[in-house]
Amino acid sequence: MNAKQLAAAEAVTHIEDGMTVGLGTGSTSFFAIHRIAERVKEGLRIRAVSSSKGSESLARELGIPIVPFADIDAIDATIDGADEVDEAFNLIKGGGGALLREKILAANSRRFIVIVDESKLVRTLGAFPLPVEVVPFAHELTVRKLEALGCKPAIRQADGRPFISDNGNYIVDCRFGAIPDPAELSVRLHAIPGVVEHGLFVRMTETVVVGGADGSTRYL
Ligand code: A5P
Repeated sequence: MNAKQLAAAEAVTHIEDGMTVGLGTGSTSFFAIHRIAERVKEGLRIRAVSSSKGSESLARELGIPIVPFADIDAIDATIDGADEVDEAFNLIKGGGGALLREKILAANSRRFIVIVDESKLVRTLGAFPLPVEVVPFAHELTVRKLEALGCKPAIRQADGRPFISDNGNYIVDCRFGAIPDPAELSVRLHAIPGVVEHGLFVRMTETVVVGGADGSTRYL
């Protein structure tokens, strides 16, 4: 197993019968979804909600029961990847463009389990460009406001056009270099009209599982 698979497999040991499970998005979550599906085939009884259309269709294909949000009260545990994790367990997420739905799931989960390989661990967030989801309307003005916060913004592209999120919005990748105070930046980003959500997950998790290239698994 590679490092991402190891972290994913360890996180899935926390899933038990009767739970409502949040499914993350990205290459590490991919392994978690596969592992959950294996356990479902072995008899695990859960229901799941998904943070993206992609993860939802993968889960359905693999036989994981997906339920509408109207049918659940809360999510027992969500397992998801991250692009960066700092020493205070703050995260950058959204490399796959699913940050808004991921944050909704994380905020409504009793437990939010983050799965990463060693390469995601940093002292200070910000080397990874921070994904910010913005509405397409007048996005040129919103991007200028983002730039005024001290970053180099770039509208994410796919096939020569702006990438469109599952919610019909654009993603602006904001190169800050270093984000010494994620909580403060979070407040400033939310104050910009046109910003729907951003990829800073501040104090949202207490559980980070790290897979190592040497075959080890550890909790931060
Ligand atoms: C998806 O939008 C992201 O938040 C991912 O969870 C994050 O980018 C980690 O992705 P990988 O597991 O592919 O590195």
